[in-house]
Amino acid sequence: PTAPAVIVAIDGPSGTGKSSTSKAVAAQLGLSYLDTGAQYRAITWWMVTNGIDTDDAQAVAAAADKPEILSGTAPDNPTITVDGVDVAAPIRTQEVTSKVSAVSAVPEVRARITELQRAIAASAVTGIVVEGRDIGTTVLPDADLKIFLTASAEARAARRSGELKDADVKATREALIKRDAADSTRKTSPLAKADDAVEVDTTDLTLQQVIECVVSLVEEKRAAR
Ligand code: DC
Repeated sequence: PTAPAVIVAIDGPSGTGKSSTSKAVAAQLGLSYLDTGAQYRAITWWMVTNGIDTDDAQAVAAAADKPEILSGTAPDNPTITVDGVDVAAPIRTQEVTSKVSAVSAVPEVRARITELQRAIAASAVTGIVVEGRDIGTTVLPDADLKIFLTASAEARAARRSGELKDADVKATREALIKRDAADSTRKTSPLAKADDAVEVDTTDLTLQQVIECVVSLVEEKRAAR
C-alpha cells in the first residue's frame, strides 16, 4: 500500500535556516515544498507595483483578491508568479522586504493566502513541507509534524548578511529584529510556536545537522503510523 501523504510545518523567525532546511528535507524525502513567505512577498510586490499604499490597510484589504498568485512546489525549483509574471527576483528587494510585514498583517490578505496554502497542501500527493510563521498554529493545525526553528539574533543577522552583497550587518540585524517584532505582535495569526511543535535551536548547528535532525523526526513520525 502507498504511504499516506505526510504534512510537515516548519515555522520560525527570519534567518533561522527555514528555507534551506525545508527545501532540503522535501528533496530528500520526495515531498513537495511551499515557501509561504514568498506568497506574502508576491502579494506585497503586486501592491507596490500597482501603486497601493501598503500602510493603508483598507486599500490593501480591498485589493487582496486581485492578484493571481501561483506557487510551483518542486523543492529544487520553487517558482512563484503573479498574474503570469515570474517574480522570484523582485520579491527579494529591500523595498518589498520592508513592506511585507504591514501587508501580511492585514486579515483579508491572510485569509486569501491561507486558502491558497491549504489547497496546495491538500493536493500534494506524497506530502509537503510548508515553511512560514503560522503554519503549525493556523494554516495546517493538523500537520503530522511541526518544527519551530530558532537562533540567536546575532546568528540570524549573520546568516542573512551572508546572503546579501556588501551588507551592513548592524542594519540587517536591526531590520530583521523590527520585522520579527511586527510579525510576532500582529493581531491576526502572529509568528508563534504551536504547543505541539518541536523546537530546534539552530544557533550552534550546521545546516546539514538541522536537515538531518528534521529528516529523522519526519521518519519517526512516518514509522509510528
Ligand atoms: O520568510 P520570509 O522572510 O520570506 O517572509 C516574509 C514575510 O512574510 C515575513 O516578514 C512575515 C510574512 N509571513 C507571514 O506573515 N506568514 C507566513 N506564514 C510567512 C511569512
